[in-house]
Amino acid sequence: MAISNLLHKYLALAVTLTPLSVSVLADNNFNANYGTSPAPFQIDVHPSFINRTIQKVALTRFTVDVEEPELASGPPRHNATTVQDYWLHHYDWFRVQDQLNQRYHHFTTSVLTGPRSNFTNPVPLHFVHHRSNRTDAIPLLFIHGWPGSFMEVDHILDGLLNPPNASAPAFHVVAPSIPGFAFSPAPRKAGWGARETGYAFHALMEQLGYTHYVIQGGDFGGVILRYMAGDNPSAVLSVLDNMWIVPPNATDLERYSLGLTTADENTTIETINNFDSENSGYRLIQETKPLQAAIGMTDSPIGFAMWIFNLMLSAVDHYVWTPSEIITWSMMYYIQGPYGGMRFYKEVLREGGFQGFGLGDAYPYVHQPVAISEFPKDIWYGTPLDWARRKGNVVTRNFHYSGGHFAAVESPDLLLGDIRAFWGNSSLSNVSLFRS
Ligand SMILES: *[C@@H]1O[C@H](CO)[C@@H](O)[C@H](O)[C@H]1NC(C)=O
Ligand SMILES: *[C@@H]1O[C@H](CO)[C@@H](O)[C@H](O)[C@H]1NC(C)=O
Ligand SMILES: *[C@@H]1O[C@H](CO)[C@@H](O)[C@H](O)[C@H]1NC(C)=O
Ligand SMILES: *[C@@H]1O[C@H](CO)[C@@H](O)[C@H](O)[C@H]1NC(C)=O
Ligand SMILES: *[C@@H]1O[C@H](CO)[C@@H](O)[C@H](O)[C@H]1NC(C)=O
Ligand SMILES: *[C@@H]1O[C@H](CO)[C@@H](O)[C@H](O)[C@H]1NC(C)=O
Ligand SMILES: *[C@@H]1O[C@H](CO)[C@@H](O)[C@H](O)[C@H]1NC(C)=O
Ligand SMILES: *[C@@H]1O[C@H](CO)[C@@H](O)[C@H](O)[C@H]1NC(C)=O
Ligand SMILES: *[C@@H]1O[C@H](CO)[C@@H](O)[C@H](O)[C@H]1NC(C)=O
Repeated sequence: MAISNLLHKYLALAVTLTPLSVSVLADNNFNANYGTSPAPFQIDVHPSFINRTIQKVALTRFTVDVEEPELASGPPRHNATTVQDYWLHHYDWFRVQDQLNQRYHHFTTSVLTGPRSNFTNPVPLHFVHHRSNRTDAIPLLFIHGWPGSFMEVDHILDGLLNPPNASAPAFHVVAPSIPGFAFSPAPRKAGWGARETGYAFHALMEQLGYTHYVIQGGDFGGVILRYMAGDNPSAVLSVLDNMWIVPPNATDLERYSLGLTTADENTTIETINNFDSENSGYRLIQETKPLQAAIGMTDSPIGFAMWIFNLMLSAVDHYVWTPSEIITWSMMYYIQGPYGGMRFYKEVLREGGFQGFGLGDAYPYVHQPVAISEFPKDIWYGTPLDWARRKGNVVTRNFHYSGGHFAAVESPDLLLGDIRAFWGNSSLSNVSLFRS
């Protein structure tokens, strides 16, 4: 494409700019301003993009069937055709968009990531922010993971804002989109990983006036919060992590091979080995060649929906994903293009959060009080308390017998119970600043 054509495309698709806005020029397919302070935002995806997406869904070319056990190689073709059928005949993006706009208080802003960051330009962010009407509410940063979005907070939001009585803690909830996910545009420069995201999210909390806060997250949320705790030792009071990864070290593995490990240690080692051998293909690709995969994913809505559905399906405990959920979850990537979210894995690998085949160990020690919650169908389960304590001041381990990777979605009551027990005890979670 000639330079002038490129420039023309760039300008035609540029987001609307106001004088105060950061220059975020992107073919993001939605309208957004990212000013220098939080401003209300409504999801407003260009109808022409939705139209093109539906055309692509209609024109999807499917795979041949191979006789083998279902799920052995990916979601079965019938999942793809079921989702296609629903997308073409029942799914109405504009109705979903209206519901998301009514359900959440959305905002955009931009933040400066500070002197430790390699990114000097303001970083545009989308987030949802709901304030509790309780005067003793604790500011809580909820961080989503892959392949989710801010929407993961949905089933716990009301319980966080309006608990049933005054003895249960209430929270002001901030649920941002990691840059590259949903409506936070992807950085255009390599090097944006979990730590940079943590700089941005801390700057967001400061911008909102929250000088002290707590964090909850699993998956990437549970990784980002570990950096944030270390980088902001006085602001982050305590954290609750529902995917607290602490890989076995060489001594543990040697004890395992000699049959000397405990039942818990075995569960942890075997859960992660199983994930590595059965379900890690997407992760290894995204860690190494995210662009190679993203070119096709950016062009095929069904291809991308099935790419994320594999993990959604394999990491839940009897939770039934509806075609509508699968489509909306995939749209949280597909609208801006999934490359930014996919390459986040490459950046986390660079940071030492992954180690090729296996999970990394480079996370900083968390000195603040840590509660961990574990669910059996997660990709990580059964961490012995003494292993967990190698990487942080783990004061509570909540061990559950049902649920999976998407705790806030699948087991909201269990997660809310853990949240209330931890932050309802001010001395345990160091939140006496807010609650005596
Ligand atoms: C998509 O756009 C085409 C061309 O403008 C139009 O004919 C068609 O009706 C649109 N389809 C939908 C589903 O909006
Ligand atoms: C996908 O396939 C699995 C296995 O056959 C099935 O349990 C599940 O209901 C299907 N989901 C959708 C959305 O088609
Ligand atoms: C910033 O870049 C340097 C040099 O590449 C790298 O060592 C460092 O980890 C980067 N910082 C972050 C927060 O990623
Ligand atoms: C707080 O908000 C909830 C729901 O919006 C409402 O039911 C409750 O009465 C409010 N409490 C106070 C003290 O205003
Ligand atoms: C307050 O609500 C919590 C959470 O549902 C519950 O566990 C607790 O028993 C309730 N306390 C009182 C005094 O009703
Ligand atoms: C593994 O961790 C345990 C407990 O912290 C420690 O005693 C042991 O030396 C570690 N082994 C290696 C190889 O680091
Ligand atoms: C743990 O696994 C090892 C290796 O398979 C086995 O020898 C040992 O008996 C198991 N320990 C327990 C407590 O199940
Ligand atoms: C508790 O939080 C305060 C800030 O409010 C901090 O100064 C103190 O060091 C924290 N204590 C622990 C044990 O983390
Ligand atoms: C709160 O946590 C402290 C430890 O910091 C513990 O001693 C106390 O029993 C806990 N209180 C309740 C009500 O669980």
